[in-house]
Amino acid sequence: MTRFHTPVLLKEVIEFLAPKEGGVYFDGTLGGGGYAEKILEASGPDGVLFGVDVDNDALVAAKKGLEKFGERAVIEKANYADVLNFADKRSLKFDGMVGDLGVSSHQLDLGARGFSFNSDAPLDMRMDKSGGETAIDVIRSCSCGELEEIFVKYGEEKFARRIAENVFEKKENIRTTLDLEKICWSAYPSKLRHGRIHPATRVFQALRIAVNGELDNLEKFIGDAPGVLRSGGRLVIVSYHSLEDRIVKLAFKGLAMGGGFKLLTKKIVGPSDDEIAANPRARSAKLRAISKGVVKNVLFGGWSKMSRC
Ligand SMILES: C[S@@+](CC[C@H](N)C(=O)[O-])C[C@H]1O[C@@H](n2cnc3c(N)ncnc32)[C@H](O)[C@@H]1O
Repeated sequence: MTRFHTPVLLKEVIEFLAPKEGGVYFDGTLGGGGYAEKILEASGPDGVLFGVDVDNDALVAAKKGLEKFGERAVIEKANYADVLNFADKRSLKFDGMVGDLGVSSHQLDLGARGFSFNSDAPLDMRMDKSGGETAIDVIRSCSCGELEEIFVKYGEEKFARRIAENVFEKKENIRTTLDLEKICWSAYPSKLRHGRIHPATRVFQALRIAVNGELDNLEKFIGDAPGVLRSGGRLVIVSYHSLEDRIVKLAFKGLAMGGGFKLLTKKIVGPSDDEIAANPRARSAKLRAISKGVVKNVLFGGWSKMSRC
């Protein structure tokens, strides 16, 4: 597969998803198609994978990598938050669904996308470049208080207020990733500037989440996905920071407590040391999975399969 993105926790995702021959699958964050390729291999010769992404670059890369599967790989531009509509329109239910949250390596590494302060580029940060506000638009349209709220809520940034004040004051002069990086750097207390995390990291994360509505999309997806899973179907989510993981954890817990779903991961599943050594971007990955069609057995207090769900 292409180096567009090195799939994270690939072996574990496939183990938890357990694709079966002839199954129907949904990859809500297709990226370079690394998960999709393995799902199609494991569900062959007749399994079908519906893969969506909001990023045109991802769709092009995935189409190329998956063309060997012919009509078994159905690739479309869509937001995974619209999964209910996507499935209803095609009268689909899925045997497995996967979401691999956050950005692809391609988005981070292609400086021009404006996601990273490793290179200087217009501060864009949109995954879907066909519309919506860029990070610059967000910065220019927010009050100082709103910027602070974004940095606190989506970045858990300790120095949100002083960074927001500096950004707000200089907002007309901020155009590029490095303009913003420099402001974060100088707003940080000097003795903390050389810590493990660069002073701009959390602010960049926060703006990216705000620009792409990432947490709202995740909440919508996780609320709707269980309804389009077949009995016995599995939902696997890989997240990369505590804000995302909290949403996944609470939603899965709620589903399991409500009956009809079983938690397949009592604790998060993370990458091995070998994977982190080979791909340092995997280090914060957290996998959680549930399956549908299992109810609490009242008599024995254990879990048993439901015949219908
Ligand atoms: C971490 S990458 C996925 C990599 C993929 N698992 C692979 O194996 O190549 C995340 C992808 O999700 C996409 N994405 C983010 N939010 C999305 C959304 N709401 N709907 C659809 N795709 C989304 C991004 O554009 C990006 O391509």
